[in-house]
Amino acid sequence: MVPEIFHEPVLLKESVDLLLTDLNGSYVDATFGGGGHSREILQRLSDRGNVIALDVDPDAEKVANQIMQVDMRLKFFRRNFRNLHEIAKESGMESFDGILFDLGISSHQIDVETGMSYRRDEPLDMRLDKTLSESAYDIINKYDFDKLAWIFWNYGEEPESRKLARSILKYRQRNEIRTTGDLSNIIERVCGKSRKSLSRVFQAIRIEVNHELDNLTDGLNGAIELLKSKGRIVVISYHSLEDRIVKERFKYEASTCVCPPEAIVCTCGKVPRLK
Ligand SMILES: C[S@@+](CC[C@H](N)C(=O)[O-])C[C@H]1O[C@@H](n2cnc3c(N)ncnc32)[C@H](O)[C@@H]1O
Repeated sequence: MVPEIFHEPVLLKESVDLLLTDLNGSYVDATFGGGGHSREILQRLSDRGNVIALDVDPDAEKVANQIMQVDMRLKFFRRNFRNLHEIAKESGMESFDGILFDLGISSHQIDVETGMSYRRDEPLDMRLDKTLSESAYDIINKYDFDKLAWIFWNYGEEPESRKLARSILKYRQRNEIRTTGDLSNIIERVCGKSRKSLSRVFQAIRIEVNHELDNLTDGLNGAIELLKSKGRIVVISYHSLEDRIVKERFKYEASTCVCPPEAIVCTCGKVPRLK
């Protein structure tokens, strides 16, 4: 059963205003979720327009199926957006007028049992796609000190990253860390009872489990390849690392020269693919 309020779409009007350049065009919603953005796009498109939507979440697929029953302009794939290029090829689409990424997770995914929230005690999981081989349980119980500290610091900016990694290893000598509650207790003991640390560390583990930054890099590759010449890519991001990946990539793709600064004459021949 899919709840009526699945996810409140963020920057709905602003993002769709930016995305749509041709109301007869073809668009990708790479992160369908509860379909808020897709619905808004479909509402504005003409009968000739269409939307390809992707999500790895089976509940997102249920919502998409409901829409597809009444609107044939939507086509949904339960696939990772890192395979966007392949999916477009399989469905016979060569290029798109706009591609939207609304990164992260939906509020529905926090509400249902995915071992993602520190607000409930449930088995540690955090996989958005249950076919992934490693869950949060594997990472927390198997990664070594350096890897854990690196993730907490780099993906979570947790100041106590090393102390926390050490405590996790110490705890593991006696017990497995099975649930979100077990993990929350360790975090609270090391970092204090602040919600900030809980949310930083949980987010860091989620990014690692779901390969979120690699997905974004690959997803952008596909999107840039598939964009029509006057098309647009719109990305809504919530994390500074995602933000940096997107901005650096767009800057690189828009640049006309990547020669070293000391070069007197440009020899790189770089052709900008975005502007
Ligand atoms: C913030 S929600 C999107 C909400 C959506 N725009 C709406 O209006 O309801 C992000 C969605 O992206 C999905 N997602 C995250 N990473 C993904 C990936 N690599 N490939 C496909 N879907 C992904 C999540 O499962 C989640 O449903």
